[in-house]
Amino acid sequence: MSSAAKTRADRIAELTPEEQRLYRELDPQRIPEHIAIIMDGNGRWAGKRLLKRFLGHQQGAEAVQYVVETAERIGVPWITLYAFSLENNLRRPKTEVNFLMKLLKTYLVSNIKRMNDNNIRIAYIGRTSELPADVHETMQWAADATSSNTGTTLTLALNYGSRSEIVDAMRTVIADLAAEARTQNKPLEDLLGNLDEQNISRALYTAHMPDPDLVIRTSGELRISNFLLWQIAYSEIYVTDRLWPDFRGIHLLEAIADYQRRERRFGGLSESSSDENLSEKLSEDAEAAHVLR
Ligand code: FPP
Repeated sequence: MSSAAKTRADRIAELTPEEQRLYRELDPQRIPEHIAIIMDGNGRWAGKRLLKRFLGHQQGAEAVQYVVETAERIGVPWITLYAFSLENNLRRPKTEVNFLMKLLKTYLVSNIKRMNDNNIRIAYIGRTSELPADVHETMQWAADATSSNTGTTLTLALNYGSRSEIVDAMRTVIADLAAEARTQNKPLEDLLGNLDEQNISRALYTAHMPDPDLVIRTSGELRISNFLLWQIAYSEIYVTDRLWPDFRGIHLLEAIADYQRRERRFGGLSESSSDENLSEKLSEDAEAAHVLR
């Protein structure tokens, strides 16, 4: 049976017994729509084993496949992985950058069948046109080869930096506004009031996705590292000490369980402090004070 034809129950049955146990404790109605992951700790994973850094990256690529397949089985529509930042590109030794590029190509080519078997669609965000032409071609090929899959969209952030994404978005927004000003024969300043958050969201690389509900960072660092700064304004953040090459589907489920214990307020009040509950509480307090007098 093709993966797209499988029901959610069929897919859940493919989880490991340990994953199934944890999945049964989750609320299936509150599985995050979009999970974004900062995969960190490949170098430390290798260092602890006295191995070369590149072996850590290789194991990290294996972890990607486990995690994205679990995400698809449990019905996460969007998963975005910080695979290679602009800063990695600029600040890491050329040998490591070249290795990461080669690893990306190998990963895409060797996992395309698994992606299709698991109904996973591949996409990218970042200044990807600046990557080497052969890498770019393989990326395009993998996206095309998985474009008709309808399960999880795996977005790889490559040559990605959030501030440069916002700069790119502002360039688009201002160019659009200037064109509109010319059409209406008005000065640009007259149209500045039209600019709102939606205009900017729609010009980001992530325009077609919901904002992440949950951001996971491995290896214990308490940083966002220039990842999806605009989009994670109200995301829940989960940090684990586990190093990325050791991260598996079960750990994704643990992060979701933690997420489901949180109360998301988006700048509002918690349910227990709604106007009605608050005034009830105030009158109870007033009554108690009266009895005490
Ligand atoms: C951080 O480890 C991770 C990266 C630089 C990039 C993530 C890359 C992978 C998981 C492998 C390739 C991915 C794909 C999709 C093929 P680090 O080197 O910063 O670790 P450290 O902080 O312990 O040194």
